[in-house]
This record gives sequence, structure tokens and C-alpha cells, in this order.
Amino acid sequence: MSEEIKVQLTTKPGEKPDSNNLSFGKYFTDHMFIMDYHKDKGWYDPRIVPYAPIVIDPAAMVFHYGQAVFEGMKAYLTDSGKVLLFRPDQNMKRLNRSNDRLGIPEVDGEFVIEAIKKLIEVDKSWIPTEKGTSLYVRPFIIATEPCLGVRSSYTYQLMVILSPVGAYYSSGLEPVKINVESSYTRAVRGGIGFAKAAGNYAASIKAQENAKKEGYSQVLWLDAIEKKYIEEVGSMNIFFKIGGKVITPEINGSILEGVTRSSVLTLLQEWGVPVEERKLSIEEIYDAYKEGNLEEVFGTGTAAVISPVGELHWNEHTMEVNNGEIGELSQKLYDTITGLQSGHLQDTRNWTMTF
Ligand code: COI
Repeated sequence: MSEEIKVQLTTKPGEKPDSNNLSFGKYFTDHMFIMDYHKDKGWYDPRIVPYAPIVIDPAAMVFHYGQAVFEGMKAYLTDSGKVLLFRPDQNMKRLNRSNDRLGIPEVDGEFVIEAIKKLIEVDKSWIPTEKGTSLYVRPFIIATEPCLGVRSSYTYQLMVILSPVGAYYSSGLEPVKINVESSYTRAVRGGIGFAKAAGNYAASIKAQENAKKEGYSQVLWLDAIEKKYIEEVGSMNIFFKIGGKVITPEINGSILEGVTRSSVLTLLQEWGVPVEERKLSIEEIYDAYKEGNLEEVFGTGTAAVISPVGELHWNEHTMEVNNGEIGELSQKLYDTITGLQSGHLQDTRNWTMTF
């Protein structure tokens, strides 16, 4: 795509939030990016416009059949005043994998990255710089055609919005408590679990609300068929350090292929930490706990970064991990990932994009 991105600046810039008190996803910047799609035209009319509610037909297919996908990445301001994005090419590849599964047309990833860069430049003054904060970038695509027939929509909108954020969990780097979900299912192989599709998150909400009432931050999903193997947390992938080895569920068609997950795997391999991607049952975790070998548990995600887990609850069993404190490896991974993302550590892997 080579169409020029038009820019219409706001005449009413908003008030910036207190960057010591951002929480996650509550504030939005002054502008957003929009691009339309029609099956006869392809993607067209890319534009940056003032952030505002959009008008959509109530019959738009996204409301009825859930054709909606999204992405998440973070922008940081470096000490030299440049903007840094972490592996945006990986997000674009995943967006197109999600599109393909949901019957949504492919996007030109390089063009969308250019649009994101331009949007961030326009709203650069919104990038928070306090420790632990960043500008969260949320690209998403929705089916906009008014039609109640079940088929792929003929029209779509791709939008990008920006949100200055703090830590995803209100506890920050304090380890979270997680409930292993034994009744509900998030996704099953052959379904849409590997896609970053809105519907996967809708499927997770009921169990998450139940877990919250019991004092847990999130749920850990098990496989849909045997209710035995660890999948993911829903807002993050999950890693276990057992007897010096790090184990994470393999990519199996029902869990999300996280960009932070893959970066952590690379770092661990480079550091010489034994690491395995494989099927991992909840019984194996419980046995490791009983034997005193469950050393660390942490989640990985763009929003979550590295989030240590201090307690796992499975049926009648409560497993405390590392005395409820962040482990050494989790801390090292957090420092390394955030160091690379903020430009404080030198990027030797070509993971960052600065502009
Ligand atoms: C992300 O980590 O970017 C996500 O999209 C997870 C979401 C639940 C906030």
C-alpha cells in the first residue's frame, strides 16, 4: 500500500493523566488512526484524526458474529528522546495470522507499522516516562458491513488507538495469585485460541470474574479436552521453573504465540538456562511443588511484561511459589525485557525499532 496518510489534528488537546497513577488502558491520546476496507477496493483512505467515538451501523457484522481481532505493543521514549517499538514486525505477522483465521483480509504489515509510527509521532508528548510506564499501542480490525447473514464481511475498519499505561496488574511486580480453572474452557485446538481474536477474551471473562471474587488476579487455563495440560493465562503465556529447568506449554493451536514469550525463550537459550516447550500437566506442577522443586512461575505478555506468580490454586490445593516473592530469574527477565524496550540495554538482536 502506498496511499498517503492524511493527518487532521485536534483543536482540543486533552489533559494528560498523572503518570504516577495510570493503571492500564484507562486513558487515550488525542488522535487515532483509521483505514477502511472494501472487498472491491482493498484497504484505502488511511488517516490520522482526532480521537473520538465512531459511528457504526447497528447491523455491522462485528456486533453479531464477532469478526474482530487486535494486537498490543508498547512504545517507550528513550533517554535521547526517540521513540522505541519492540518487535512490531512480529505483531504484524500475528495480526495477519489472526486475520486469516477469522476470514478478515490481510493487511500490509509494513504500512501499518508506518501508520503507527506516524500516529505516535503526532501524540509523542503522551508517552509517559515514569518507571514501569509506556504508551500501549492497540491496533484492531472490525467487520463493519451491515448484514445479518453469516459470512465474511465485505467491509472492515482497521484502527489504532494509544493509551499511556502503567503495570497491567495493580500489584505491579508483586507476585499475583492465580486460580487453575477446572470447569470452563477458553479455547480448543482447531478453534480460534491461537488468534488474537476478541472472542477468546469474551470466553474468558466469566471464569475470571469468579476467580476475582475468590481473591485471584487471573485464571490459568487447562486444555479443553482432558482438562489436564496447562495452556495460558489469557492475558499472558506462562512459564514454570522446575528443578533448574524452565518449561512452557508448546504452541499447540489453542494458545497465543506471544511476542514476549518468544523473546524470553531466546534470552533463556542465550543465557544457557535449560528450557523446554512441551505439554505440561497440572499434576506435574503439583508433584514438583510437593517435592519442593517448583522454584518460579511467571507470566509473559506485552501488557503483563514479566509477571511473577506467587500462588497457584488448583481444586483444593494451594501452591505457594518462592514464598510469594519474585524469583531471581523472573527479575532478570523483567530487567532485560524492559531494559531492551526502554533503550537502556543495547539491542544486539535487531528487536527494536527507533524513530
Ligand atoms: C497484551 O498483552 O497486549 C494483550 O493484548 C493482553 C490484554 C489482555 C491486555
